[in-house]
Amino acid sequence: MSSNESAAGIAHVYRGTFVHATYHTAVEILEDGLLGVDTEGKIAFIGSGKEVDRLSQKWGFEAFAVTQLGQHEFFMPGMVDTHIHASQYSYAGTALDMPLLQWLNMYTFPVEACYKDLEFARNVYTHVVKRTLRNGTTTACYFATIHTDASLLLGQIANDFGQRALVGKVINSYPLVRPVVTPRFAPSCSATLLGHLGEIAQNNDLHIQSHISETKEEVSLVKELFPDYDSYTDVYHRHNLLTDKTVMAHGCHLTDGELKLFRETGASIAHCPNSNISLCSGMLDVRRVLNHKVKLGLGTDVAGGYSPSMLDAVRRTLDTSKALTIQDTQYHTLTFEEVFRLATLGGSQALSLDENTGNFEVGKDFDALRVNTDAAGGPIDLINHGEGPKVYVAGKRVVPFVERP
Ligand code: GUN
Ligand code: FE
Repeated sequence: MSSNESAAGIAHVYRGTFVHATYHTAVEILEDGLLGVDTEGKIAFIGSGKEVDRLSQKWGFEAFAVTQLGQHEFFMPGMVDTHIHASQYSYAGTALDMPLLQWLNMYTFPVEACYKDLEFARNVYTHVVKRTLRNGTTTACYFATIHTDASLLLGQIANDFGQRALVGKVINSYPLVRPVVTPRFAPSCSATLLGHLGEIAQNNDLHIQSHISETKEEVSLVKELFPDYDSYTDVYHRHNLLTDKTVMAHGCHLTDGELKLFRETGASIAHCPNSNISLCSGMLDVRRVLNHKVKLGLGTDVAGGYSPSMLDAVRRTLDTSKALTIQDTQYHTLTFEEVFRLATLGGSQALSLDENTGNFEVGKDFDALRVNTDAAGGPIDLINHGEGPKVYVAGKRVVPFVERP
């Protein structure tokens, strides 16, 4: 990697294709872009490759120090997993034969009890951080367990491997890691506990995460346990747990009134389609959530979801949207461009981290994936490149490819 750390604070300059979402456009592609990163890792400038001479004078880097991306490479923002249980990674891909409440009692609670053992925790947490990073998750909002030492360890491991993370429960911060107040879900909390957690979050301006309206059975249980509240959402709201730093997983069965409360408070939803199908919980109508102008990101929800990959979450989001379209042919299906935005900028917004991450804007951190579609031994075969049938979309030549599993 070329660098020029002495001049004008520019540490790296990259030239090539940049793909990202903006607040106005689901996917924006900058061909032959030129992006400079300062010594603090922040984007100093974004321009065109054709301006390299002017920009090198202005910013004081040598044109030969520019890192040129290959023809089949591009940069995209790191993906944001807005909901993943680090403590459930050890059994991901198994135990998906029960509905949520039985699944929790039969599999999840016994495994999570093991995290009193720090060596067990270190082993699983190291694997989950490395695996999610390998899959392109540069930011993760983690559920851990009630064991403070193990949760601190997860924060340290994420920080050491360079992953941005929110970790709950945890009581102090690392440079890349912040604490998140984490009531598991209303059925496992008393009103008194919820009240105290709301207070802690408010007094310390902390993030909050929990689960909401994942299954119909759970919604009924909350009605029984909290009979004096208007709705499941009202249970959290009346304890100051719905803020613009709150992310609630699932929300499959929320009413319009509840979504309105999300909008008013700025709370967001983590959509976890793999989990919702795997545990037969429900199918979230993402279009409806977006129409309510509620912030929404994607989550893997390992191990209710069997895959730690955000690319899987993207695919399952499209699958669920298409399943809703099968049920109602008038349904406004999500496009892959919209889902790309949800996996990147949408996730950053959902976690209220979009001041610093989520897309390529001057002043934000350069938090990016360098993707090579032509990597040796990779999963993609580029077909007929440069010759053979030409395919045009909206007047632009595209190179067709097929992906091999
Ligand atoms: N609701 C409460 N706890 C959990 C959990 O661990 N996983 C999922 N999917 N839902 C929950
Ligand atoms: Fe979950």
